[in-house]
Amino acid sequence: MMMDSGPTTFALFAAGAAALTTSVVKLKSRLALSRAKHRSLGGHSRLSRRLAGLVSFYAYDESQVFRSDNPPEEIATARHAGFMRLAKLYAERYPQTMRLTAGAKDGISDLQFTDTYRVPFQFRELVQRHLNAPAFVQSSQGVMLTDLDGNRFYDLTGSYGVNLLGYDFYKGSIARAVERAGELGPVLGSYHPVVADNVARLRAISGLDEVSFHMSGTEAVMQAVRLARYHTRRTHLVRFCGAYHGWWGDVQPGIGNPIPARETYTLNEMSEAALRVLRTRRDIACVLINPLQALHPNASPPADSALIDSARNAHFDRAAYADWLKELRAVCSQNGIVLIVDDIFVGFRIAPGGTQEYFGVRADMVTYGKTLGGGLPVGVICGRRELMKRYRDDRPLDVCFARGTFNAHPYVMAAMNEFLRHLDTAEAHAMYGGLDALWNARADTLNQRLRERKLPVQVANLSSIWTVIYTEPARYNWMLQFYLRAEGLALSWIGTGRLIFSLNYTDADFAAVADRFVAAAEAMRRDGFWWHDPAATNKSIKRRVLREVLAHRFGRRTERTA
Ligand SMILES: Cc1ncc(COP(=O)(O)O)c(C=O)c1O
Repeated sequence: MMMDSGPTTFALFAAGAAALTTSVVKLKSRLALSRAKHRSLGGHSRLSRRLAGLVSFYAYDESQVFRSDNPPEEIATARHAGFMRLAKLYAERYPQTMRLTAGAKDGISDLQFTDTYRVPFQFRELVQRHLNAPAFVQSSQGVMLTDLDGNRFYDLTGSYGVNLLGYDFYKGSIARAVERAGELGPVLGSYHPVVADNVARLRAISGLDEVSFHMSGTEAVMQAVRLARYHTRRTHLVRFCGAYHGWWGDVQPGIGNPIPARETYTLNEMSEAALRVLRTRRDIACVLINPLQALHPNASPPADSALIDSARNAHFDRAAYADWLKELRAVCSQNGIVLIVDDIFVGFRIAPGGTQEYFGVRADMVTYGKTLGGGLPVGVICGRRELMKRYRDDRPLDVCFARGTFNAHPYVMAAMNEFLRHLDTAEAHAMYGGLDALWNARADTLNQRLRERKLPVQVANLSSIWTVIYTEPARYNWMLQFYLRAEGLALSWIGTGRLIFSLNYTDADFAAVADRFVAAAEAMRRDGFWWHDPAATNKSIKRRVLREVLAHRFGRRTERTA
């Protein structure tokens, strides 16, 4: 027994040392991961979901609703009068559209959701009672939409980014697609010949070897990630804080998804700490990039329902984002990580060759969607041959399955072909030339006008995608969306967070939008919504709202003692 104790002790010691080393390595890598998270709640998916579950609903009553920042009485009265004037104008101007919206809402779950999340929840009861946003439209012409009452609006919704070339282009492409695919009809499984031309064009545009067709952007992202996992034999995907890549669970690990995404890392975009994680971890299959984030790195899509103060910020720096993408590219190449550029939103909007061309970076895979469908729903992946393959030559039963009934639908493929062929025209080449200069100049003009009038609003833009930012601490910025509608500007449900212009806006169209924008902001100021206590800051507003939230969650005592 005694004789054995030497080797046994040594073995135990060695095992202990090995376990300790493993623990230290694990701890270090955990620590590196924590450091690579963005400090905001969006950077901490689990925590944000847990905290979201703790917030109880409460609403301001009629007397509080215009006094949430303790304004002088005449300001509260002016706000109330302005709000009611808008409500009357909506009722008189949009009666049929409002009637149909109210009648249909009960049966349309999505409409109930979007209508509920237009403004911060404390204000929503009053808004829903008086300023219901009409949900129906009758027709589109040029850059305008017409509702059921014959009102015309400049369209700033951009149809979630689909509308790049103007609705008339897509109407034409769908009509021609119906004609071209009509002889075959909705035959699925076999391909319409137009598919071959689409594939050739997409390979040329992306500079990648193979193409895969899907029904939506979300599906394309799902499949790209699945393929990356299959080929790298690694588990995790990396997305950056705030970036939207569709509603699939793994790319939506925080609020919005009822279960945690266990194989997703959400990292701080444009940070050295994130690069360190990518350099050192061995479980990362792919990194997803949404270049729209260049406008507001690490921030979520800027919905007006989150406008509790004026802290929303945005600024696009093309050179800085290009440098970041180059660093990311290099690290991914060194560590065998698949770099997926999600060009579903900005792809054809910034350049015909999308992010790769615009920022000068090569991707392993690119996902496309939205406008590429020529007005019909689509998702596409282009990728390197070795990543797109769905089976292994040496393991016949080990496949990566991704097929969908409607993939490569003949009508969608024909409409896509209209879009792709349009990209080759002299008209399209001319349109892309000077695009940024044009939209930057337009944003500058509007900002100048707003500054001259000392209105506390500015816009920031990534080409034709704009966001509105607010320059003085205020609690009612979310009201601007309703003033804009009253001036004939149509916004999507996220309100002033995202204005999307189609590229057929002429200078005259834009000038009309700018006039209306300024008029809306002037009216809102006249009605007192931008009054603020000179001592107020965004921080003090946030603190006050937090106190209210805690008081409603844990009882009045918290409010008094806070
Ligand atoms: C960058 C990006 N990826 C993916 C998606 C999801 O596409 P879809 O809504 O077609 O599923 C979107 C949609 O907005 C997007 O902007």
